[in-house]
Amino acid sequence: MNADTVRERLAGLLNGHSFGRNLEILQETGSTNDEALERARTGAPHGTVILALSQTRGRGRMGRAWSSRPGDSLTFSIVLRPESPMREAGRLTLHAGLAAHRALTRETALPYHIKWPNDILWERCKVCGILAESVCSDNRAACVVIGIGCNLNQTDTGFPLELRASARSLAQLTGRTWEMEPIAAAILRELALVIDRPWPEVLAEWKTHCTSIGKPVRIATGGEVIHGVLLDIDGDGALLLETDSGARRRLDSAEIL
Ligand code: BTN
Repeated sequence: MNADTVRERLAGLLNGHSFGRNLEILQETGSTNDEALERARTGAPHGTVILALSQTRGRGRMGRAWSSRPGDSLTFSIVLRPESPMREAGRLTLHAGLAAHRALTRETALPYHIKWPNDILWERCKVCGILAESVCSDNRAACVVIGIGCNLNQTDTGFPLELRASARSLAQLTGRTWEMEPIAAAILRELALVIDRPWPEVLAEWKTHCTSIGKPVRIATGGEVIHGVLLDIDGDGALLLETDSGARRRLDSAEIL
């Protein structure tokens, strides 16, 4: 697969859509989030999309690596310039999760759910992960970069050994191969729609796909593991927990185990 062909196909599917009007396709890079953060620091406009056919140092949440092989994965990042980025960073991560959920549901006709903050799961297996990162600088508007990695065509042995039980590709779930352009275009279109909707509606729809609310959970945060019940997600996208000892905790950076 060649970057020019992907660019032509994706631009054709987006057909002048605001997200992706500024579109860059890289044959190989370390991380599309690093590329997008760099472009954002030098003024890339809202909706800039950087997609790589191969990443050599893909990053996931909580300092983990995100590994992918050429042809197996969709890996791209979007530069967003919300009006109040620091407040909206937590929200945008949920916007992106909802957009990916909607796009994958529609494209594959399979039922997914969302694990807070924005993993897209089929049953208990991860299909798509999202990494949101913020940029602040003195003389330019701050912005948020949303990086999306979606497992398209991995076979059973295509994932690192430690992920084989917990990751799935669309090909494994559907028995056919998937091209990256239609999935990328579907996610970008949904993201633009979701971002334009009132936040309370977005949060309400997001919650309908999150199966952990009201259930016992184990949460890893700041080097500790907390047991409790996931009470709710607050208006800034943070997780509200009642611990087994009865304390209330609000967490905006954590992982449900
Ligand atoms: C996670 O689930 O931990 C988040 C994974 C995010 C991976 C994507 S791939 C495109 C973008 N570039 C990166 O380096 N990471 C994100």
